[in-house]
Amino acid sequence: MAKIGMIGSGSWGTAIARLLSDKGNELVVWSFLDSETEMFRKYHENTERLPGVKLPEDVRFTSSLEEAIQDAELLVFAVPSPVVRSTAHNMSRFVKENMLIVSLAKGIEEETLMTMSDIIEEEIPQADVAVLSGPSHAEEVGRGLPTTIVAGAHSRETAMRVQELFMSPVFRVYTSSDMLGIQIGAALKNVIALAAGIADGIGYGDNVKAALITRGSTEIARLGRAMGANEKTLFGLSGIGDLIVTCASKHSRNRMAGYLMGQGRTMKEAMDEVHQVVEGVYSAKAGLALAEKYQIEAPIITVVNHVLFDGLSAADAVNELMLREGKDEIDSWD
Ligand SMILES: NC(=O)c1ccc[n+]([C@@H]2O[C@H](COP(=O)([O-])OP(=O)(O)OC[C@H]3O[C@@H](n4cnc5c(N)ncnc54)[C@H](O)[C@@H]3O)[C@@H](O)[C@H]2O)c1
Repeated sequence: MAKIGMIGSGSWGTAIARLLSDKGNELVVWSFLDSETEMFRKYHENTERLPGVKLPEDVRFTSSLEEAIQDAELLVFAVPSPVVRSTAHNMSRFVKENMLIVSLAKGIEEETLMTMSDIIEEEIPQADVAVLSGPSHAEEVGRGLPTTIVAGAHSRETAMRVQELFMSPVFRVYTSSDMLGIQIGAALKNVIALAAGIADGIGYGDNVKAALITRGSTEIARLGRAMGANEKTLFGLSGIGDLIVTCASKHSRNRMAGYLMGQGRTMKEAMDEVHQVVEGVYSAKAGLALAEKYQIEAPIITVVNHVLFDGLSAADAVNELMLREGKDEIDSWD
């Protein structure tokens, strides 16, 4: 069993802390806000973000990064993607040489177009960084419902260490060497989920949802391949798997934000109403910039950007997609 520092205590950090402590590991959970640490000390639960999921009595809570990291053998990193860099920067001086950091955040940095693991490696060069991603809502993992996920690392040894650490009868972990593919799928599915939510909000049906999932996955796979990822990863758990769950689930905040926009709210109104970080909004810009950089056609990601940032109405967005010139589904003629 391991001593683990859990960096981040939102819904995902809490659900994963529960999983890892149920497996007998010793956990110190770090929260960004003192008020969150107090809440955990009092209730052993994130009453705001994941109510009903209690952490065991022996889990400790702190607002000090030093305290969370100093005695830990490894770290699990679960803050939202826009604050990964600042948090990693603040952690760096406490992290020991070769310490394993498992990154759970889903996003691409808007300004640099870097993945989360690239950012952590830049800020904490002495760490051995791995990623864990897949179709996994905190609301279900926190309640012990069966889930599958993929662990990516630079070495098979590290990937297997992560697999062993997280694997349980209700949490099945596959391994992969394709950290880039895992993270491209994880970030960009949120953009497609915004589109799926918009379609739901307008009142469209299952046909368009299926179209967005399949054409969205094609778009993400095309981009991933151009960037050097293994295309098969994008049709695996962290690609199509996460895309399906995010586009279809009532738990997805990205789908919900899209839904509200489909119902006529502005982006700001929708984000305020969801009251959580809607990472797809950040990844939308990054996705478009990547598509332009790699000269990849990405019509859904492009249209989502137009809705979010250029005032295109939700209904016109759907028309923009439907009225594109006719295309082959796959390039089967050559
Ligand atoms: N929620 C899920 O089901 C789920 C599943 C898989 C992966 N993820 C990923 O895990 C990451 C965390 O998601 P979440 O759902 O736990 O988010 P969340 O919105 O529930 O958590 C937000 C947390 O971020 C912390 N925070 C706010 N500002 C901060 C700052 N400036 N610096 C550091 N921390 C700050 C807050 O303390 C808060 O507890 C995201 O990248 C998300 O995509 C989430």
